[in-house]
Amino acid sequence: MNLFNVYPLYEMTPSHANMCYVFDKKGEKYLDLYGGHAVISIGHNHPNYIKSLTNQLNKIGFYSNYIINDLQKEVANEIIQQSNCHNYKLFMTNSGAESNENALQVASFYNKREKIIAFKNSFHGRSNAALSITDNYKIKSEINKKINVIHIEFNDKANFDKEISKGDVSSVIFESIQGVGGLDQPSTDFIKHISKKCKEYDTCLIADEVQSGFGRTGDFFAFQNHDINPDIICMAKGMGNGFPVGGILIKDHIKPSFGMLGTTFGGNHLACSAVLSVLKTIKEESLLSNAKEMEIYFREKISKIKSVIKIKGRGLMLGIEFDFETAQLRKNLIFNHKIFTGGSANKNLLRILPPLNINKSHIDMLFNALKEELK
Ligand SMILES: Cc1ncc(COP(=O)(O)O)c(C=O)c1O
Repeated sequence: MNLFNVYPLYEMTPSHANMCYVFDKKGEKYLDLYGGHAVISIGHNHPNYIKSLTNQLNKIGFYSNYIINDLQKEVANEIIQQSNCHNYKLFMTNSGAESNENALQVASFYNKREKIIAFKNSFHGRSNAALSITDNYKIKSEINKKINVIHIEFNDKANFDKEISKGDVSSVIFESIQGVGGLDQPSTDFIKHISKKCKEYDTCLIADEVQSGFGRTGDFFAFQNHDINPDIICMAKGMGNGFPVGGILIKDHIKPSFGMLGTTFGGNHLACSAVLSVLKTIKEESLLSNAKEMEIYFREKISKIKSVIKIKGRGLMLGIEFDFETAQLRKNLIFNHKIFTGGSANKNLLRILPPLNINKSHIDMLFNALKEELK
């Protein structure tokens, strides 16, 4: 049987991987500066990750959420401690879309409203509500068009105020740095403004940290750069370093009730052990400060490349904007230089989302490859 053909594939089949390198069947070594869409946070096959999953697998890999799972409590405590986001409770999911879907659901249960404000150029995932709030009509089916959502430009206070002041908005969901959209960021002034307005109208503010969270930007969560406290925080991707896991942090004023949310796989033992190994490694290897240091070096170095207009993003969630479309350059980087990078809705942008423990030599490799390609 053939596969349902929805992915345009590069001709490359990985056979194994180690930290920031992926190897193909022929033994070729590729530098992974993309981490499979920002997923590989502590490095492929990090020893802590292997050890944690192996130990757990030898005890119990899975049981559902109708028994006590102390590992979920450990995950919750460690996230709260490392992120400094106190007064939140954790609910675990399996993916980014599911985290967002549940966040919207919790908000709607809380204030009994249905309307959602999202932002232009946003991407929030592929489940129904997550697609509804995503600003890309090409990937929406008819069922995704039934949800009551309005998309507003970042920093457009006038339109935002006009909508929220109607008093019928359940939630406002935003990415502090747009990933798929192309690394654009709202201003701190705007984020503080929407946070204040959400409080005023009892609307839930949801931070989609699926891509930008878990240390990627050099802060535990990217919204922390703006000094706000969202009502709900959505996580996935780097949280499990490749193990499919997500979660939402829900502020204490939003009360749970039995049956309000549920999942069979979410927060299973193996998933928790993956998250705990990521959290342990973030702490042991000071990955937040490494992300900040590497950003400085990256900007210094890569801005010297010909045709670079701008370097966007923060920490190790970066975009290099060129004065031409980058599809061919991405291919050349893979096939001529054995370096993975990513694309985005902005066709002139290369997305860089490496493991958080890369060092300067990896950035030098990208620099040399770009210099050669663009001489
Ligand atoms: C900001 C953001 N939210 C949600 C998602 C969806 O996550 P997943 O693919 O794990 O469902 C993504 C995926 O790229 C994302 O970047």
